[in-house]
Amino acid sequence: MNPLPANKILIKRLRSANSTNDAAINILKNQENIDWIIADEQLNGRGRRGNVWTSPLGGLYASVVISDDKIEYSHLSQLSILSSVVAAKTIEEIIGKNLIRSKWPNDIFLAEKKLCGILIESVFIENKFYVIVGFGINVKFTNEQNQAKFSYLQEISDKVSVEKCFNKLILNFNKIINIWDYGKSFTRFKNYWLMLTQDYGRIIKVRIKNILIEGVFENIDDHGNLILRVGGKKEIINTGEIFS
Ligand code: BTN
Repeated sequence: MNPLPANKILIKRLRSANSTNDAAINILKNQENIDWIIADEQLNGRGRRGNVWTSPLGGLYASVVISDDKIEYSHLSQLSILSSVVAAKTIEEIIGKNLIRSKWPNDIFLAEKKLCGILIESVFIENKFYVIVGFGINVKFTNEQNQAKFSYLQEISDKVSVEKCFNKLILNFNKIINIWDYGKSFTRFKNYWLMLTQDYGRIIKVRIKNILIEGVFENIDDHGNLILRVGGKKEIINTGEIFS
């Protein structure tokens, strides 16, 4: 993919959105162009598997639209790992290395608590395929209830700001998606992601819809799917949630 020059990136900033993923889709449906959309808060933030993503002021809620003609449905699982690497690199630039862990498919944890979640959706609008990647990063402390469950960049760096984090996210996304080159360089990002996970080689529980499967986290395949060894069998899992 050709790198987008920084001054050509189309960014929409909103004080409030229901969900930046939905806002991006609506903009595309109105036949307007958009690369990134960021909101100070979301009133109806959405997580994976129909979960709510509580989105008060202080967090980063941003979505990027991939509208490249060469992007296909089959790239989605790789994009999931890739987006997680984008978030991880961004976070590492802010709080330093060796603090975060990746959890399949694309969560980032700090001190055993979730720091970042990513929601990837695809849509066809007027016969054109778009991928929307929505990043939720906990930047500043919100309320105490959330602090029990989530971690925040502010725990490590008191100078952090949503704006700084967003700028780095844009740059890393641009850089990494271009190096990736529709999968040609996926392996190096997969390896980076694997270095960050604690689950490699461990027994994990994966929930797929309402079924819980236990097995050994064997690897990530070349599409970004999880390879789970269950008994003597390899299961290839492309959607689900890990419960270690
Ligand atoms: C998850 O871990 O369940 C995914 C959370 C994704 C949250 C982000 S915030 C920006 C974008 N807009 C949404 O409504 N969701 C994503």
